[in-house]
Amino acid sequence: MTTLTIENHLSAGYLDAALRADALGGLTSVPKRLRPAWFYDARGSELFEEITRLPEYYPTRAEREILVAHAGDIAAAAGAQTLVELGSGSSEKTRLLLGAMRSEGTLSRYVPVDVSESALMSAAHALRADYPELAVHAVIADFGAHLSELPRMGRRMVAFLGSTIGNLVPDERAAFLLDLYGTLSPGDALLLGTDLVKDPAVLVAAYDDAAGVTAEFNVNVLRVLNRELGADFDPAAFAHHALWDAGNEWMEMRLRSLRGQSVRLPAVDLVAHFAEGEEIRTEISAKFRPERVRDELAASGFDLRHWWTDRAGRFGLSLSFRR
Ligand code: SAH
Ligand code: AVI
Repeated sequence: MTTLTIENHLSAGYLDAALRADALGGLTSVPKRLRPAWFYDARGSELFEEITRLPEYYPTRAEREILVAHAGDIAAAAGAQTLVELGSGSSEKTRLLLGAMRSEGTLSRYVPVDVSESALMSAAHALRADYPELAVHAVIADFGAHLSELPRMGRRMVAFLGSTIGNLVPDERAAFLLDLYGTLSPGDALLLGTDLVKDPAVLVAAYDDAAGVTAEFNVNVLRVLNRELGADFDPAAFAHHALWDAGNEWMEMRLRSLRGQSVRLPAVDLVAHFAEGEEIRTEISAKFRPERVRDELAASGFDLRHWWTDRAGRFGLSLSFRR
């Protein structure tokens, strides 16, 4: 039977301190902002899974199409014994990689890493039945802070799928890639999913779906602040707003205050004032051009050797190596 081990780098105290610092810093900034990691409580993780099944949200299907076509090539090129996955969520697409690595005969261990304990635990338990020979070492951690503490065993491939790297602002992205490079050994691989620049109408629809699931996902962050910081946000007093920032080539999600209002956040001793129409930026989701992916990887030392897209050219998957 699968061996399942769990490592937790996010004690209640750590998460609480990080959320307080971000809420205080972000809600006193101009413009106001919050880090997207706070979306993913149990409800937020479920809503994200629902998003992946929406007709408008193409990235998950496009990346899966690439994995269906190329998981065997990826497994052969990487020759890894350990698959580490950052922001693994439900690990659904990962099954394609695990299957290919098993067929390649190299796979011995899977290390899913996520801030969402609920998503990580249900994924890890679901994998136990299907991969009886696989050691699953689940790590509850922040990939922005704990990369150096991830287990280092055998040759590794780090998968960072779904274009979650696009949720980091450019400075964070550069720091993240340098940090990751520093934790790898020569010959280790990075499999990176990146959503590509395309028609803004397609992008806006993907982040503002007709059924309102993305709106619910966005507003959910206010419920997290209410629960964790004793805040009194009225979720109905904020509206979801998704827009394409052409200069930065990123999608942005915001929450717009529908009226002038003051919100109390007792845990951080803050009263946040909102003018009518004022917005909180809750997420950026960068869209890439292939040259930018190559350049950013090269700037942190990675050698990009393979680049695949889905047939419609919506999404890119790259395989790079630590030199
Ligand atoms: N990789 C999956 C899930 C993407 S959703 C896919 O491609 O479908 C983004 C995932 O990253 C969520 O599971 C979320 O909980 C996790 N996440 C977000 N910020 C994180 C952080 N700072 N550290 C670790 N995990 C994070
Ligand atoms: C996880 N991340 C890559 C998703 C994205 O597309 O930026 C999160 C998401 N936000 C809105 N819809 C989905």
